[in-house]
Amino acid sequence: MIGIISAMHDELAELLHVLKDKKTTILGNREYYTGNINNTPVTIVFSKWGKVAAAITTTQLIATFQPSEIIFTGVAGGIDADLNIGDLVYGTQLVQHDMDASPLFPKFEIPLLGKSFFKTSENLKLHQCIVDFNEHYFTHISEQEANDFNISKPKLVSGLIASGDEFISDVQSIEILKKNLPNLQCVEMEGASVAQVCEEYQIPFSILRIISDKADASSPIDFPLFTKKIASKYAKGILQNYCS
Ligand code: ADE
Repeated sequence: MIGIISAMHDELAELLHVLKDKKTTILGNREYYTGNINNTPVTIVFSKWGKVAAAITTTQLIATFQPSEIIFTGVAGGIDADLNIGDLVYGTQLVQHDMDASPLFPKFEIPLLGKSFFKTSENLKLHQCIVDFNEHYFTHISEQEANDFNISKPKLVSGLIASGDEFISDVQSIEILKKNLPNLQCVEMEGASVAQVCEEYQIPFSILRIISDKADASSPIDFPLFTKKIASKYAKGILQNYCS
């Protein structure tokens, strides 16, 4: 069974429409939707925002539903200057950018786990599904929707994603992040905590982020509409194909 997590309902709303034989289990104030997509068993859940919410959800998902792998998908703020709204980031490593127990431990290192960076699984099938999605982009997203967000030809990059309990929306924070983590692609608020739980429970983990904003002063304005109109269609287009 594949576990699929997003922080918000809007990010997976379209995928939920293609979930067959849906059964809902309520645990810890969250709804876990179990069923089949293209005859592949899945459990879909919205974690809510932030590292604690994501860790609670991931732990419950693993303990109750025993997924063979977990995929996290959702939106992120672009940090690398080359990233534009609508681009895709396939996470290869995750770091908690607000973890700092120095001088007792190096900045970013998770105390007593002895690591700062969590590697994701090399999920070639998921990567190929993202490539396929991009090749047939306008069968998933209408030209009007793409124009509304100034998306022309989205690109896919692989790399480092940082998570923290902070919505980044100013240039100064971006500069600090870039200085400390020069290879950083994007920021969000859950991925590295899901990665930590998956590492502790030895569950393969993948992460896919869709750039919703550039983590600057314009980010809160773009955000809610983008999630509903664009991100949920990316998740459906990519993950429906993955579940086959
Ligand atoms: N998720 C989407 N955009 C974000 C941002 N700018 N900061 C943190 N998380 C985000």
